[in-house]
Amino acid sequence: MGLEFGLQKREELNEAGAIMARAYENYDYVTLYFPDTVGSRKGLQIFMNCVVKTNFGRADMLAAHRDGKMVARATLEPPGFKRPSAFQYIVHGFLRVYLNTKWSRINGFLAMDEAACKPCHDYQKSGSDIWYLSMLEVDPPAQGQGVGTQFLAYLEEYVRQRGARQFVLFTNSQENLAWYKKRGYEVFHECEIEHEGKKIGSWSMKKTLNR
Ligand SMILES: CC(C)(COP(=O)(O)OP(=O)(O)OC[C@H]1O[C@@H](n2cnc3c(N)ncnc32)[C@H](O)[C@@H]1OP(=O)(O)O)[C@@H](O)C(=O)NCCC(=O)NCCS
Repeated sequence: MGLEFGLQKREELNEAGAIMARAYENYDYVTLYFPDTVGSRKGLQIFMNCVVKTNFGRADMLAAHRDGKMVARATLEPPGFKRPSAFQYIVHGFLRVYLNTKWSRINGFLAMDEAACKPCHDYQKSGSDIWYLSMLEVDPPAQGQGVGTQFLAYLEEYVRQRGARQFVLFTNSQENLAWYKKRGYEVFHECEIEHEGKKIGSWSMKKTLNR
């Protein structure tokens, strides 16, 4: 299949944001707050660009390429990671997100996201060798071809070489839950996210990495 893995480059930030927006467009976690997928597309793209630009150089960002084209990317938060402030998001264009989305929805989404990340953030604080996989996306046209499986194995090796003993993440679909379980992850926290009468699951998972 010829996949190449490595650090995501600064000049790839827009491409990374585009992959993130495409990958999450139909994800329940997003559609819970932005059910109009087509109408929300531009706002989601601007939001993801802002997220990836704000975190670049702070979190570890990795990418997978096939025939020179990015097909997957990931954001990893090392132990002791300091999350960017609201000001840093504004510097990287967050006001455009407000202009292109309904502010009440984006504020609700951010509050939900903060709560959904909390079990992983809390768990990460329990040890100095726990890395958090905060985002992982395979570009939709490249999904279901084994890219995610190979990339996840690379990410596990990447953090293991940097002293990780455990890798944590959370996910919000039954399909992803089964996908991670098959790859050795176990649930350590489980809850439901509810918005406007709709509910989705949220599973925080961990994997112990062999030394
Ligand atoms: C979840 C996600 C990362 C998985 O990546 P992927 O590349 O689609 O996953 P894979 O192709 O490796 O695995 C999917 C299935 O396709 C199968 N598959 C199909 N063709 C394959 C091939 N040619 N080679 C290997 N596996 C293949 C795999 O066996 C696997 O089935 P299994 O889970 O029963 O083993 C990806 O679908 C994604 O980015 N989704 C949207 C964003 C998202 O949900 N991110 C995660 C948030 S926590």
